[in-house]
Amino acid sequence: MKCTVCRGPALIDLRRHNANFCAEHLAKFCRDQVERAIHDFDMLEQGARILIAVSGGKDSLALWDILNHLGYDTAGLYVGLGIGEYSDVSGRFVQKFASERGLELLEVDLRSEHGYDIPTAAELTRRSPCSSCGLSKRHLFDRAAIDGGYDALVTGHNLDDEAAVLFGNVMRWQMDYLARQRPVLPERDGLPRKVKPLVRLTERETAAYCVVTGIDYQVDECPMAAGNKHIAYKELLNEMEVASPGTKADFYLSFQRRAVHQLDGTLAEGRESLGTCDSCGAPSPSDICAFCRLKSTTARENR
Ligand code: AMP
Ligand code: FES
Ligand code: ZN
Ligand code: ZN
Repeated sequence: MKCTVCRGPALIDLRRHNANFCAEHLAKFCRDQVERAIHDFDMLEQGARILIAVSGGKDSLALWDILNHLGYDTAGLYVGLGIGEYSDVSGRFVQKFASERGLELLEVDLRSEHGYDIPTAAELTRRSPCSSCGLSKRHLFDRAAIDGGYDALVTGHNLDDEAAVLFGNVMRWQMDYLARQRPVLPERDGLPRKVKPLVRLTERETAAYCVVTGIDYQVDECPMAAGNKHIAYKELLNEMEVASPGTKADFYLSFQRRAVHQLDGTLAEGRESLGTCDSCGAPSPSDICAFCRLKSTTARENR
């Protein structure tokens, strides 16, 4: 197998692009795909000051590396979720990445700063760990980005993630979720601009990027996410991708090109109903935001 660019030995084949790449050209391919997503979706101004949420996994660390290569002014944000050994190890990968490159890293620890962790929240609320986890992360990401005055909050959601979420939203025709499922959401009353520059790359590609550029990352998946329905959707989409390479990218990118703007009205309607949380001042559709409610439930039950 030869590299499509230089004809040297290739180490990966990308069937949907009908291409094979050596280490150097795989890294270039990944950077080009991110640059193209940023350009096509008008994600970031050149040299923007951005906060990137990093979990210690392949996607967000690869993205942090790529955005530095592309000349953005970046700082990382790691949220310690308190999921035992998994969180400890994830945090160490993030710290190592940042310190080796002299990059700024902000850290927020749920247990010591907010009095709970994800396993206790899941137990006390009797909801899935991922729902407490998702709402905690969103709240803390938004707050850190606003407090630090960053131009955008960036996350490492990749094509597999976004296609699986889109699949789930289409299966139930959740129009409000579909309306919001965009790779860029502009800044608005107290919420930062949110950007997902990895929407043109799969997790196989970001993992390969880490391997060829020497980035060490947390390989284990979150132990609390087992049984999450998006895992099943990812498997289904992967089967379709094997039968017909390019299906996944087409599903997601065609939705962005042809359909999502039909839902601009639905997006705007959802926007009118935001007030502020009486307790923390964050934008919220109710008097007390979901994060403050979760915090007080865990504080009450923990007593
Ligand atoms: P996930 O929700 O685990 O699929 O992760 C999606 C994205 O959220 C990652 O690519 C990161 O950008 C971000 N993220 C997930 N977990 C954390 C964390 N503990 N701290 C900071 N960012 C995170
Ligand atoms: Fe959130 Fe696992 S990372 S529940
Ligand atoms: Zn090559
Ligand atoms: Zn609040």
